[in-house]
Amino acid sequence: MVATQSFLTLPELRRAAKRSLPPEVWDYVSGGAESETTLRRNRRALQHYQFRPRVLRDVHDIDLSTSFLGIPLRLPVMIAPMGSMYLVHPEGDVALARAAAQVGSVHWLSTMTHSAPEDVAAAAEGRVIFQLYFRGDNAWAEELIRRIEAAGFRALALTVDSAMYGRRERDLERRYDPRGVGNRVLNVPLDRGLRQTKLSWADVEWLKKTTHLPLILKGIQCAEDARLAAEHEVAAVYVSNHGGRQLDHAPASIEILAECVEAVAGRAEVIVDSGFQRGTDVLKALALGARAVCVGKLAAWGLGAAGAEGAARTLEILATELRVAMANCGVRRLTELTPALVRRVCDCR
Ligand SMILES: Cc1cc2nc3c(=O)[nH]c(=O)nc-3n(C[C@H](O)[C@H](O)[C@H](O)COP(=O)(O)O)c2cc1C
Repeated sequence: MVATQSFLTLPELRRAAKRSLPPEVWDYVSGGAESETTLRRNRRALQHYQFRPRVLRDVHDIDLSTSFLGIPLRLPVMIAPMGSMYLVHPEGDVALARAAAQVGSVHWLSTMTHSAPEDVAAAAEGRVIFQLYFRGDNAWAEELIRRIEAAGFRALALTVDSAMYGRRERDLERRYDPRGVGNRVLNVPLDRGLRQTKLSWADVEWLKKTTHLPLILKGIQCAEDARLAAEHEVAAVYVSNHGGRQLDHAPASIEILAECVEAVAGRAEVIVDSGFQRGTDVLKALALGARAVCVGKLAAWGLGAAGAEGAARTLEILATELRVAMANCGVRRLTELTPALVRRVCDCR
């Protein structure tokens, strides 16, 4: 057992994960599609936003709390859905769920899990959302939805950026298939998403009719689709390019966030992910209108470094970074945030 309090920075956790994970698992977690342009752009684009800090505002008491779809959050950060987490740590999603509960966050469970949804919901103390890859037929999806409703999941997120599985060349060149036994837990057809190539807005309507859970669309990447999502009355729009793992040369999430927030115009909650690895990154997204930010790789690295404790420590350090950034920007509450806090610049040195 690693003494997780000994981790003081996020890069330390990342380095510990890289040391302890097999190289092929590290690459599965950390890589992106094709030339990894989207992967890199997600990080680079964040550097193009600088703060416009305010001073002399009494920032002694900083409050990071908010909520997402009625779930109270002690920090505006959640754990993004990630498949095959058992490769990173034997406890996989159960460990991530425990970490989320410990810090007052939410864990999103991927369809590609190896853990029983009921165990994950219990470990998360109800702080769980289910991510759906629509791979089987409607009867398969309906059976799965009934199961996750009964297990106490709070919302259902349909991933819409994965019509076809992205070509992740790190995995391909290793002849490495990370799917393993993960998919079999929920009887996911291993067709590499044939059903997903046929998804349309009609399926969104079908899902809305089929579940009483709030519906989220994960993987929205432009204002037009954000507007359509709002018109279809989804509960939340999740701006994401899948952490650079799907379409290469996609826009960075931070660059399209504001246009999506504007298009939704308050009709749904808007959250974002892809490339967020620092408290300052989170603060930029919140200033540009996101209600919360999800982290994928960062949480997986924490899990790889020290299991549930490592993932929890990751979220704690992120919260500390956010608190310091808010104080030094003159912000006490998330409700005070507006786009006036950030300015986009060309020169990011
Ligand atoms: C190892 C790994 C597995 C993932 N698996 C899924 C998945 O099963 N379903 C899904 O919707 N997104 C999946 N994603 C994408 C994440 O939900 C999220 O969009 C992305 O990781 C955010 O970018 P970040 O890693 O830069 O934080 C996965 C990401 C990673 C890193």
